[in-house]
Amino acid sequence: MDKMRIIGGNSLRGTVKVSGAKNAALPILIASLLTDEPCIFENVPNLQDIRTTFKLLQFMGVHVDSKMDHNEVTLNAKGVNRFEAPYDLVRTMRASVVVLGPLLARFGEAKVSLPGGCAIGARPINYHLAGLEKMGARINLDAGYVRAIASKLKGARIALEFPSVGATQNLMMAATLAEGETILENCAKEPENVDLARVLRAMGAEIYGEGTEVIRIQGKPKLHGCRYQVMGDRIEAGTYLSAALATGGQVRVEGISSEVLESVLVRFEEAGAKIQRDPQFIELASHGRPKAVNITTLPYPGFPTDMQAQFMAVMAVAEGSSVITETIFENRFMHVPELQRLGANITIRGNIAVIQGQPTLKGAPLMATDLRASASLLIGGLVAEGETIVNRIYHLDRGYEGIEAKLSKLGAEIERVK
Ligand code: UD1
Repeated sequence: MDKMRIIGGNSLRGTVKVSGAKNAALPILIASLLTDEPCIFENVPNLQDIRTTFKLLQFMGVHVDSKMDHNEVTLNAKGVNRFEAPYDLVRTMRASVVVLGPLLARFGEAKVSLPGGCAIGARPINYHLAGLEKMGARINLDAGYVRAIASKLKGARIALEFPSVGATQNLMMAATLAEGETILENCAKEPENVDLARVLRAMGAEIYGEGTEVIRIQGKPKLHGCRYQVMGDRIEAGTYLSAALATGGQVRVEGISSEVLESVLVRFEEAGAKIQRDPQFIELASHGRPKAVNITTLPYPGFPTDMQAQFMAVMAVAEGSSVITETIFENRFMHVPELQRLGANITIRGNIAVIQGQPTLKGAPLMATDLRASASLLIGGLVAEGETIVNRIYHLDRGYEGIEAKLSKLGAEIERVK
């Protein structure tokens, strides 16, 4: 199994380009199920989760013509003949559950394995299912699978209990081919969901209000093919900027609009960084140790839970003590014991972590537990004195395209050890 070897201490400097957003690309690829015409997607990141999505779509009968050396893929769902997401694929990638809505809407049936427990919390899909039931689907849970049927989905008024990102995607896609109008209330406003709505519109869907609490969708009998470029990855951008701040460096990330990362940028500024904002890039400049800042994770436009672990690694070397409150996932502090191995002073009470910033960390062997936790350990390793080995980096490969090459380009001493 691959490991990452880091010699810490270098300040990161330079320019790096982010890849396409994984969390936008996954539902966008799956949206191809809504039409029998080819869909061409550009700026698709070359990642394990994307390859898993290709496998999932191929399993159903989608023709996948991937040119991933150019980050482009053409998907044609004309020949879909299996309406199922099997356990082996859903287990490795929970986002597979968003096939439910498109399959039901276009074919009237879907069978999707329950995602089961996930390292960062229970993550049920009850909001997805309740919404589809409101649109007329009949749903059964049987032997670990969700089976849903609906001869024709009907538009409905659905108020989500919580602005779930995945449930908003599932219901938005289902509604594009439903009969009549669907009104989704308390929707997730995440930029990745806005990107999905734009793709659906490029496919001929009638959607209003993406990025706000209420999304209205007028169902159509059919959608058509499209060509679409996936947005840049705001979490990847935030990860490189965190590494720059933690190491007292100066980094420009390109391929991302500063607007989608605003809640994080203001915290970087409170921590002492200078930020240059642009629709095409973000630049962060810092000197010396960051200052301690408190954060609470919230649905967009609040501070993203997917940046919490990386921000904690920055706070581990900050001047002063900071409080990080995680409100989205109940078990998302698995990076804490690993950061402690580097000498970070962190105590946890429930969903609150208190971090006493240290002047330095010391390199150590570490174990990655999930995607964003892995990124936080890399940041820890980049500031720590001496050698850090991060084991189990297959988590990183699920979400960061060529991260060691990008960090090396910024001056980090980092290499993948096979
Ligand atoms: C997506 C992102 C993930 C991010 C998260 C929150 C993808 C592939 N993943 O995950 O990286 O951390 O948004 O920004 O885009 N919940 C329920 N019932 C449901 C659905 C969700 O109780 O039916 C709960 C979850 O357990 C969690 C919270 O709602 O506590 C947020 O989940 P949700 O917004 O759905 O996250 P995901 O779509 O799974």
